Amino acid sequence: MTPSSLLDIVPVIPVVVVHDAADAVPIAQALVDGGLPMIELTLRTPAALEAIKRIANEVPDIFVGAGTIVDTHQPQQAAAAGAQFLVSPGSTPALRAAMRDSGLPHLPGVATVSEVLRLLEHGYTEMKFFPAEPAGGAPYLRAIHSPVPAARFCPTGGITPANLADYLNSPNVRCVGGSWLTPADAVERRDWPRISGLASAVRGVAIPRH
Ligand code: 3PG
Repeated sequence: MTPSSLLDIVPVIPVVVVHDAADAVPIAQALVDGGLPMIELTLRTPAALEAIKRIANEVPDIFVGAGTIVDTHQPQQAAAAGAQFLVSPGSTPALRAAMRDSGLPHLPGVATVSEVLRLLEHGYTEMKFFPAEPAGGAPYLRAIHSPVPAARFCPTGGITPANLADYLNSPNVRCVGGSWLTPADAVERRDWPRISGLASAVRGVAIPRH
C-alpha cells in the first residue's frame, strides 16, 4: 500500500520500542486486531530493524515504518528491512535528502515556525511535530494554523488518551503518534489483548476530518 498521505491512515500511529524482535509480530497483530493497521518502530534498539523485517514479512495487513531516523544511513537500512514509511524527529537537509533517496513516504520533524516554513519551502506540507507537549502542545498548533495554514501535523511526544481529542480537534492535525498503545509492562507480560484493547479504545474518540 502506498497511501497518498501518511496522516490519513489511522488517527493514532502507534510508536513502538521493541527490545526483542520476537515480540514484533504479536504486537503488530494485536494492533491490527484492535483496528490500528499502522506501526512505527523506533530505531532506538538493536532489535528494531529485525522487528521491521519480521512484521513486513508476517503481518501483511499492517503498514510498517521506521521512526527516530536521526542519521543518513538509516533510511536505506529501514527500506532494506521492509519499512514502508519513515519518520524523523528533525529535518536537517542531509536527513531530508536521505529520506527522499529511499523513495519511501516520510515525515520530517519540526518544533518551530521557521522549521515549518523551511519544510514548506521544500515542498513538504505534512510533518511530525515533536516533542509535542514540551514544545507547546495543541494550543501551539492552533496558534500557528492561521499564519501557516498549509502545514499539516502529526504531533508526537507526551500524547495520551487524556489529551488526544484536544490534538485531533486542532484544524492542522490529521493524526497523532504515541507510545501509550504498547506499554512496556504489557509487552513484558506478552499481554497482547491489552494492546488490542488500547488500540480499539482510540476508535471511541470522535475523529474530526478537517
Ligand atoms: C516519538 O518517538 O515520537 C516519541 O518518543 C513518542 O512519544 P511518547 O512516548 O511520549 O508517546
